[in-house]
Amino acid sequence: MKIGDIQINEYPLLLAPMEDVTEPSFRFMCKKFGADLMYSEFVASEALIRNVDNTLKKLTVLDYERPVGIQIYGHNIDSMIEATKMVTEAKPDLIDINFGCPVKKIATRGAGAGMLQDIPKMLKMTQEVVKNTHLPVTVKTRLGWDENSKIIVQLAEQLQDCGIKALTIHGRTRNQMYKGQADWTLIGEVKNNQRMKIPIIGNGDIDDPEKAKLMIQKYNIDAIMIGRATYGRPWIFKEIKHFFEYNEIMKPLTLKEKVEIAKLHLSKSLEWKTGNRGIFEMRRHFSEYFKALPNFKEYRNTLVMSLDIQQLFDTLDKIAEIYTEY
Ligand SMILES: Cc1cc2nc3c(=O)[nH]c(=O)nc-3n(C[C@H](O)[C@H](O)[C@H](O)COP(=O)(O)O)c2cc1C
Repeated sequence: MKIGDIQINEYPLLLAPMEDVTEPSFRFMCKKFGADLMYSEFVASEALIRNVDNTLKKLTVLDYERPVGIQIYGHNIDSMIEATKMVTEAKPDLIDINFGCPVKKIATRGAGAGMLQDIPKMLKMTQEVVKNTHLPVTVKTRLGWDENSKIIVQLAEQLQDCGIKALTIHGRTRNQMYKGQADWTLIGEVKNNQRMKIPIIGNGDIDDPEKAKLMIQKYNIDAIMIGRATYGRPWIFKEIKHFFEYNEIMKPLTLKEKVEIAKLHLSKSLEWKTGNRGIFEMRRHFSEYFKALPNFKEYRNTLVMSLDIQQLFDTLDKIAEIYTEY
């Protein structure tokens, strides 16, 4: 697959942009297990141009992560142009525009998925972002605003005409938020539209290798993007690739291996984040790393409540020591 001049292997696996999740420490983990293209958390154009420190930090791109995209969003075209220029200076490999965020305070202000209610503005904004950077621009969006406005097939053509180099589609409407099941049939329709030339990346509910393969076969899409299933399971990229290559499920990791991965992840998180954030943001991952272990409550409570770094590492070692048969 090619996005602009960026050559990526066939049927690549992408790490979805996720706020408070896809920062450099988690990207490090996903890259280690084979993510082919990764995105930053979304970056608010308004905050960026006001030089808000936390937002500026989201522009950090480390060389080993490449190819990596920075995602921006906003409701004001001039701010998006300024943000585009700032992001370009940070030298990611591509810029992604978020037209998919369903969160009320963003979408009802006309940003993210809110832009699905004002297509002329969405197209103008896309053209301006494309015009103001030499980097390839991609878009991530949803099927439409609601059940009665699933406009993605026509919208995809219009966005392509604005000069974007790839389109990611999450198979839900804005009003669905994250409810129900993602519907991939329209993603497939976009891909099989003869007028579409750019790569189409499918997204929504991929959480195992069989499903990933099925979606590629059934809908003929160019790439798969994975979000929530990566929590506490950054090796999902490796599992899927193994299945693509050998048509068999990869041998599950041992608990000892998972503990080593969790320790590395915790160290990276502490390196990257200040204060207790490095610990807080590990909590959603810890719950997943050690899912379904019997009599685990005490360890789980420590992992999701303690703010003592040494205690966290000791608990992880203890888990490896106790659950030897897993
Ligand atoms: C915690 C969280 C944060 C998210 N943040 C973003 C974001 O910053 N930008 C974006 O385009 N999508 C964001 N998403 C949506 C995901 O990128 C993805 O489209 C969605 O989770 C569906 O994919 P999945 O079923 O594989 O998780 C977020 C989702 C979650 C759960």
